[in-house]
Amino acid sequence: MFASSDLGNSTKAEFYRELAAQCHALSDAESDPIANMANCAALIFNSVPRLNWAGFYLLKDGELVLGPFQGQPACVRIALGRGVCGTAAESHSTLRVADVTKFPGHIACDSASRSEIVVPLLTEDSQMIGVLDIDSPELDRFDAEDEAGLSALAKIIARKI
Ligand code: SME
Repeated sequence: MFASSDLGNSTKAEFYRELAAQCHALSDAESDPIANMANCAALIFNSVPRLNWAGFYLLKDGELVLGPFQGQPACVRIALGRGVCGTAAESHSTLRVADVTKFPGHIACDSASRSEIVVPLLTEDSQMIGVLDIDSPELDRFDAEDEAGLSALAKIIARKI
């Protein structure tokens, strides 16, 4: 049984360092990409406070296709350049959206979502293979420290997909 450590009293940077260590520990000895993404999504969803969705979209035949996630059922296919996920994937850059209602073309999968962060998953030679997508029911939930911490996680998991 996996037992996450108590992250309750740590600073945000310490919290994300510990989360990265847990993600590494869960995926290091496993080569199956679905298993690794599933555990990573569960780890994020159950550890990072105030989320309503956490998971993966993977680039397949030129579009993003839903991968392992935790949260409400979500739209399955997203074209590159569409929504927050497709825009982040196309530009290879992280998008932090404080208010999803103000993002032109935002795709509302869960009406509870108010803010969102999408981190591209890049291989070591900078090929885009998908995105890590995280939603919150709280406006402006994600700050620069969340972005840094989740980017570190995305880097770990991108090596295991
Ligand atoms: N909101 C995303 C779609 C995916 S869901 O949030 C799970 C977007 O605009 O790309």
